[in-house]
Amino acid sequence: MGLTDPEKNLALDHARRVREMFARISPRYDLLNHLLSANIDRRWRQAVVRKLQPLLTVNAQILDVGCGTGDLSIALFEKTAARVIGVDFCHPMLEIATRKAPRLRFIEGDALRLPFPDAAFDAVTIGFGLRNLASVEHGLAELRRVLKPQGWVAVLEFSQPATPGIRALVALYYKQILPWIGGWLSGSPSAYEYLPDSISHFPNQQKLVTMMREAGFEEVSFQNLTGGIAALHTGRRM
Ligand SMILES: C[S@@+](CC[C@H](N)C(=O)[O-])C[C@H]1O[C@@H](n2cnc3c(N)ncnc32)[C@H](O)[C@@H]1O
Repeated sequence: MGLTDPEKNLALDHARRVREMFARISPRYDLLNHLLSANIDRRWRQAVVRKLQPLLTVNAQILDVGCGTGDLSIALFEKTAARVIGVDFCHPMLEIATRKAPRLRFIEGDALRLPFPDAAFDAVTIGFGLRNLASVEHGLAELRRVLKPQGWVAVLEFSQPATPGIRALVALYYKQILPWIGGWLSGSPSAYEYLPDSISHFPNQQKLVTMMREAGFEEVSFQNLTGGIAALHTGRRM
């Protein structure tokens, strides 16, 4: 990654904290996802499937990075003819994914050092994972590395609502309601304080387009989901 030693230590510390946090909330992760988003998270993942479906050939191989409990991997597997591998660095999340979909392959690995050779996949997805990486730039570079030329990347992530009114309402929800319910049901209030904090530090739609282009992706575009509460960015490795 070309980092100095202090930068490496910071990145390792960040990764450890994120991994431990997801391990703590893993038993309630799915329930809270669906509850806190009023089930809209399912529709957001379906948007990824709809976008990639026409772009994939029959035997396409997809890597789902930061697959967590597997919901995006499973949606991709069920709706496309592709072979799907999920990768995540949090073992308890992967255990749940494997229980839900024993026929899929889930592998333990770090998104910043993916355990795959260059140009191995026809498509790479990352759903609500990029925001959690120590470096978005390095994450994008690693996603690109494992993509075949002409392959597609799809980044599903929380983003910035397009209209000020919705932005204010969502900010209120993130600050006042989400940490309270999330903390109560998961037993880990800090995880649900981290969530809005990480969203607020994540690049907005246009900035992420720029970063994806800088990482070497072409044909980069995005679609807002639910008024921009989330966004789906796609790009192609040439
Ligand atoms: C918010 S969850 C998203 C899970 C799933 N993609 C979904 O749509 O529900 C983020 C996941 O990214 C994983 N993650 C975060 N940083 C990672 C890294 N550096 N390498 C691999 N997985 C990582 C976490 O362990 C967690 O399972």
